[in-house]
Amino acid sequence: MAKGMCKDMRRQDIHIRPATRSDHGAIDILTHAAFAPEDVVTFLNALRSEKALLGEWVAQVQGNIVGHISFTDARVEGPAARYPMPMLTPLSVDPIWQGQGIGASLVRHAHGQLRPAHSCVLGHPDYYPRFGYVHYAHRPIDCPWAQHSAFMIRGPRPMPGRLRISETVLTA
Ligand SMILES: CC(C)(COP(=O)(O)OP(=O)(O)OC[C@H]1O[C@@H](n2cnc3c(N)ncnc32)[C@H](O)[C@@H]1OP(=O)(O)O)[C@@H](O)C(=O)NCCC(=O)NCCS
Repeated sequence: MAKGMCKDMRRQDIHIRPATRSDHGAIDILTHAAFAPEDVVTFLNALRSEKALLGEWVAQVQGNIVGHISFTDARVEGPAARYPMPMLTPLSVDPIWQGQGIGASLVRHAHGQLRPAHSCVLGHPDYYPRFGYVHYAHRPIDCPWAQHSAFMIRGPRPMPGRLRISETVLTA
């Protein structure tokens, strides 16, 4: 689709719904387009195979799937608390449709559906704070990315503990 066709898109033109199995092919194509040359399609399919995904949603514009978001199941286990900490991963918007609010709509929709008290993301430090994600310099959560500014948490100040998440994510 030509880039110029996106110019008149309004927020209400974005339709977000749960992904179905029959969407997987289109999701894989857009995930490849968004992340290439990084191979995130294999990562996504591994998470699907091990049933690690809490939910997947797609964004459609004019009937075409142009964005996708999923949350991966995870939890924190600490000396004083155990609680869910799903991870927002992966998130893709077709390069032709980027910068038009589709990524933001997907994030807000998935938050609204899952309503996680806490969630985390390993992503662009300039993008996710707008949704409430914060990097904690004192590293309350023990995980391989704790020291990276890209590792951000949304929700009340988290109680310390270790992040338990799929090996697929830990080794990606
Ligand atoms: C990151 C991504 C999901 C954002 O989706 P989008 O629909 O383009 O974003 P939105 O239209 O909702 O938001 C646009 C804003 O995001 C910012 N943005 C987009 N990509 C960004 C990046 N890589 N780093 C920081 N900010 C980014 C834009 O600068 C813009 O900022 P502004 O609102 O202050 O002008 C999309 O660009 C994408 O799929 N990128 C490739 C895959 C990827 O990196 N996924 C996220 C992995 S953490």
